[in-house]
Order: sequence, then C-alpha cells, then structure tokens
Amino acid sequence: MGDHDLYDNTYYNTTGLMPMTTPDTIDTNDGTRRPARKEDFPLLVNIPIAYLDSAASTQKPATVIDGMKRFYETSYANVHRGIYDLAQQATAQYEDARGKMARFLGASTTEIVFTRSTTAGINMIARSIVRGLQPGDEMLVTAMEHHSNFVPWQQLAMQHGLVFKVVNITPDDTLDMDDLRAKITAKTKVIAVAHVSNVLGTINPIAEITRLAHERGAIVVVDGAQAVGHIPVDVKALDVDVYACSGHKMYGPEGIGVLYAKHDLLARLEPSEWGGEMVGEVTIEKSTWNELPYKFEPGTPDITQGVGLGIAVDYLVGIGMTVVRAHEEEIMMYALSRIKEISGIHVLGPADIALRSGAIAFVMDGVHPHDIAQVLSDAGVAVRAGSHCAHPLHCAKGLSASTRASIGIYTTRDDIDRFIAALRKAAELFR
Ligand SMILES: Cc1ncc(COP(=O)(O)O)c(C=O)c1O
Repeated sequence: MGDHDLYDNTYYNTTGLMPMTTPDTIDTNDGTRRPARKEDFPLLVNIPIAYLDSAASTQKPATVIDGMKRFYETSYANVHRGIYDLAQQATAQYEDARGKMARFLGASTTEIVFTRSTTAGINMIARSIVRGLQPGDEMLVTAMEHHSNFVPWQQLAMQHGLVFKVVNITPDDTLDMDDLRAKITAKTKVIAVAHVSNVLGTINPIAEITRLAHERGAIVVVDGAQAVGHIPVDVKALDVDVYACSGHKMYGPEGIGVLYAKHDLLARLEPSEWGGEMVGEVTIEKSTWNELPYKFEPGTPDITQGVGLGIAVDYLVGIGMTVVRAHEEEIMMYALSRIKEISGIHVLGPADIALRSGAIAFVMDGVHPHDIAQVLSDAGVAVRAGSHCAHPLHCAKGLSASTRASIGIYTTRDDIDRFIAALRKAAELFR
C-alpha cells in the first residue's frame, strides 16, 4: 500500500467523518511498517518523540523544507521589483503561493494579505477597523480567545473610547450563544472570535455568529490559527469578513501568516502600516495606496516563507482536508477514551467530538500541570503546560493552568499510548 492509499477516503464511511478502521501504520515497499504520515516529517523520523504540541507549532514535511531550500538555491530574489528573469521567477512563485492559499480558503487572490502571523494580521486589521469607529461603539470578543484576538481589541477599545464586551462560555465549554445574542446591540461593530479554541478545542459556530453579526451591521473577525490545517475552511461559505491564520500551525514555516478579508472591506479600510510597496504615489503632501492586496503589505515580504506556505498547502490538498479531519477525529476519540482510564483527570472542552478539534487540555487532581509536562518530557512525550496565552479562559474556568496535548496529521495511536503511559506514571509519582 502506498502512503497516499493510507489516507484514501475508503477508510471512512461515506456519510460523515467517522473512521471505519484505524490506519495507524502502513506497509512500506521494503516490507516494514511505519507510523502513518510520520515518514513525511524528517524531524519525527530523526527524533523518536511523541510530538503532541502541534497547537503550538506543527512539524514540517520534507516537501516544505526541501522546497524552501530549493527556492533559495535556484529562484531567490526580492519580489515585485526587479525586471530581470530571476526576480520575475521569484515573484511568480511567491504569487503562486498566494493563489494556492486563496483557493485553499475559498477566497480571491486580492483578498489574501500575507502577514507575519495570526497575531500580526489581527493587530494590523484591528487598527485599521477601529480608525472608522466612534467612541461608544461596541466590540464583542469571547472568553475563549487566545490573547492574540483579545488583547488588541481590549487595548484599542481603551485607546478609542470603545465598549469592550466579553461573551461567556457554557459549562460544557462551548460558546454561550444566548449570551452572545444578549450582548449584540445596534452599536456592536466588531465580533472577534476563534474558529477553534487553542485550549478547549471547541469549534465555534462561525456561520451562525456571522449571520447574527450581519443582521446588526457588525463585522466578524475570525482567528483561524487552530482551524486551518485541521478542518476544512471556506471563508465564503462562513461569510466571515476577516479570517487570520499562521503558516507555522499548518505545516508551513514560521514568519508567514495570512489575513483574508472581503474585497470590499479591504478596499474601504485605510492601511495601518506604511512603507515601501504598499503605496501608489507619494508626494510631500500625501500618499495614495497600491492595489489590493499590496496596500496592506508594506516592505519586503517573507518571500521564501510565502513559497514554503504554498508548498504546505499543496501537502494538505494532496491529502484532502476531509481526510485530515477524519484522521484527527479518530486520534482524538482514541485519546479521549484512553485518558478516561486514569482517575482524577478532567478534560476541558466539549464532550461531543464533532464540536472539537486538535487540542486536548486537562487538569489532574493534585498534580500541577508543569509537573505532568516534566514527567511526560522525561518519557519522550512533548506537551505544553501553562495558560496557553488564554488567561481569561483559565480564569473563567477557575484554573491557573492546564496541560495540553495537541495533535496533527502525523499523530498515531502509538503516540497516544506513550502519552497515556507517561500520564499514569505522573499520577503514580505525585498522588
Ligand atoms: C487560537 C490562536 N490564535 C492565535 C495564535 C497566535 O498565533 P501566532 O503566534 O502564530 O501569531 C495562536 C497560537 O497559539 C492560537 O492558538
């Protein structure tokens, strides 16, 4: 069986995403069996680690690593400037990556702004958006936001006299939609919400939120950092106004992110960062702006990172996002069922697997998350402990920290077994 066969849809039933078998290992040509997808990721081949920190950053497939090296070795030059062949070739590859990202998200290329990261994209667009708001206008964020989609709005609200409201979460760790409905008013201009929570794993009902927001004339800014690369995302179907994500969380390099925004919104907004390339004409009196999306891309972009992101998109498209989701759902189900074997563990996030993706955060009675992470590390299992840049969420749940295991396309049942064995050891050691 070839490695692509492993992720063939025949492993999944046709009515949904429920896996029918557990393709954890594959037969290779030399007759050995290897963990699924791990062989695509040099680090995971070189380092025998159970890598359960994909929510922090995913590992990179060889195609991305090699493709970036090849670009530096054969095609590198600054983009959008030179007329010599090499510069034209570099520009073509960089713009090709934009096209891939646009198709991947269901957007047009003029709506795809390359940024440095989710954080950079949200900060930039937030500054542009609030320039058009009046004191007393309101913005809603949720209690489950990563600080990247919380603090920029909070700080801008303070600077501009805006009202900053926070939507609660329910006891079963979903967004409290009644609270959201109660807090939207005619003055609400922006709703900022994560597509997937980086702690709870909750998949938020973005299309429904967008519908409610648009009824009130508000725009919706979605933090997609934990969604893109894990679940299929179609920005047009969701009808979101803005959607931000990071390359390094979707098997691409760090230093590149994507900010999708509807064409009309981008056309209407004033840029909040200035410099080379984003201008049309500059005189002593005034400046005009370049066409979209370059109006929002000042300075030399992260060229090779952009090309690497395009290759990461190729990698995901080659597998198919429905298949990626099915694999992760299967691994999540397995992990959640095994974790129940250990007494005194409380898993955060919704019980319904259909409502969650990627992150499995938990607390263990009587054991500090950092102690758990240390024991796991000693056993070669990489997880994260702390508040995961989500202080308001931990505060709402009465916690100071949690331990988080997070998965990706390369995660196997074997990784989960190692995780569970190390968790048992932590429970024995500390309780
Ligand atoms: C939900 C969410 N939003 C935003 C971010 C920030 O991403 P970046 O550090 O790539 O800007 C993260 C990173 O963990 C995240 O999980």
